[in-house]
Amino acid sequence: MGNFVTAMKASELAEGSMSAVDLEGKHILVAKIGGEVSAVSGTCTHEETDLGLGFVMEDRIVCPLHLSQFDLKTGQVMNPPATAPLQRFNVKIEGDTIFVEV
Ligand code: FES
Repeated sequence: MGNFVTAMKASELAEGSMSAVDLEGKHILVAKIGGEVSAVSGTCTHEETDLGLGFVMEDRIVCPLHLSQFDLKTGQVMNPPATAPLQRFNVKIEGDTIFVEV
């Protein structure tokens, strides 16, 4: 089990958006979809592209390089060429602060 570290302010994360953060050497996407905050790895499992440069489509992050899509809540990969899911991280919110377990 990891440590919960401060990721960002909850009030800075708009519904339907994601924000890329670097925590303890890990590149992570924090997203808010349907009112639920989640965190997944921000590095594409295909060719290690920065998913922080991608775009959100409904509940998915779309890789900017070859357009694989990943579920922002679960990390599940939705279409090729990527085949492996994104690592998912636990999240907790206290007051206006989002913490991610890394
Ligand atoms: S690097 Fe992301 S789909 Fe190829």
